[in-house]
Amino acid sequence: MMVAANAHTFSRAAAVGLLALAQLLGQSGDLARGKALFQSGGCVNCHRIGDAGSRVGPNLSDIGDRREAERLQQSILAPDDEVIPENRYVNVTMKDGTTVRGRLLNHDGLSVQLMDSKEQLRSIEISKMKGYAIVTKGLMPSFQGKLSAQDIAHLVTYLGSLKTPE
Ligand code: HEC
Repeated sequence: MMVAANAHTFSRAAAVGLLALAQLLGQSGDLARGKALFQSGGCVNCHRIGDAGSRVGPNLSDIGDRREAERLQQSILAPDDEVIPENRYVNVTMKDGTTVRGRLLNHDGLSVQLMDSKEQLRSIEISKMKGYAIVTKGLMPSFQGKLSAQDIAHLVTYLGSLKTPE
């Protein structure tokens, strides 16, 4: 696999991240160990696979259909480098002081559409809000230095295997 061939993915990665990625490219992972790490590493506290886990972060049930291995590695090591638009979150403060948080689907001059933590689609009128803020950083912790390169390879192998059943 050529690192240089994918300049876009790597352009914003820190030098440390690049080094870790370069090490990873040579590692092969084990699916069962990746699955166990997904539980023990706390991923399951934020992500859902099938009907288990949490809805804080994106559902990963078919992530293997949608992302390349390199992209999965980058998501785990440097999640803030590039949060793709479908994974942006929004914090809404209503005029009555209550707050709503969810995954941002769309926003225009009149309303904000979001998916809340119960996976309910909500459309909130701007005229009823005090304001809203789109969040693109700090949503997922980096596992750089917390998991070994080998553990990350196990996780990437597991995530890569998650596909929609045919
Ligand atoms: C505190 C909650 C939290 C934890 C813990 C967490 N994540 Fe995440 N994760 C998120 C959120 C929120 C996003 C979406 C924003 C982003 O990409 O940074 C995300 C994004 C991702 C993505 C990118 C999804 C896509 O659509 O490309 C992957 C892959 C991922 N996480 C895997 C993991 C793995 C593996 C672990 C455990 C080692 C983990 N996450 C732990 C919250 C979390």
